[in-house]
Amino acid sequence: MSSVLSFKELMKQRYSCRYFLSKPIPEDILKDIIATSLLTPSWGNSQPWNIYVSSGANLENIRKEWIQKNEEGVKHYSDIDPGHRTDFSERSQKNMNNIMTKVSELLNDKEIKPFLEANKILFNAPTVVYITIPKKRTQYCLFDSGAIEMSIMLSAKAHGIDSVPAYEAIIYPDILRKHMKIPDDEDIVIGIALGYEDKDSILNKFKSTKLSLDEAAHFYN
Ligand SMILES: Cc1cc2nc3c(=O)[nH]c(=O)nc-3n(C[C@H](O)[C@H](O)[C@H](O)COP(=O)(O)O)c2cc1C
Repeated sequence: MSSVLSFKELMKQRYSCRYFLSKPIPEDILKDIIATSLLTPSWGNSQPWNIYVSSGANLENIRKEWIQKNEEGVKHYSDIDPGHRTDFSERSQKNMNNIMTKVSELLNDKEIKPFLEANKILFNAPTVVYITIPKKRTQYCLFDSGAIEMSIMLSAKAHGIDSVPAYEAIIYPDILRKHMKIPDDEDIVIGIALGYEDKDSILNKFKSTKLSLDEAAHFYN
């Protein structure tokens, strides 16, 4: 029973941390996080993912070019089409709007500038983990990449390391391809910024709300 409780604690403690200390993550811990995540199930055990882990000078080079592209106002051209807000169901749109309202209330800034700025500098993270899947794939490959994303974040949290999965970390895929030799036949699906939370950052005071059991789950006997 105690392992069930500690898993619940892990789930409760994970949240999207949006500003990290510059403190690096030890390499053996990073390797353990990724090795553990490779236990994730996948369609027919296809294990469609590749995991690219960028830290240190490699990540600083990426970050420099990232900031530059952002400052030039280059529009995103990610491998994965994020769709438009209006493509989502009414309930999802309501949940999404709720984030923006709550963040702007917290920051007392309608344009949520500090939130957007943190995205542009890759949240000051000391490590970003990128997940790719083959261009030749079925829809379940995307599903599987979401599963390993969560495994990475929970495995990190078990080591006391925080995370945020970020579309914003994959919007300029050519920069990532260049610095990490990611082949053209792989799509970069998500970046997960990892690190130690900066407890003083107001951005980390924001905690999202979740649907209740009654709203999301449907039980039948
Ligand atoms: C696929 C995906 C992409 C995301 N992209 C971003 C992003 O670009 N920037 C960001 O600040 N948060 C991003 N998030 C974090 C979500 O906003 C966050 O998971 C959601 O608000 C729920 O909050 P929680 O993670 O604290 O539970 C992303 C999450 C997922 C799963």
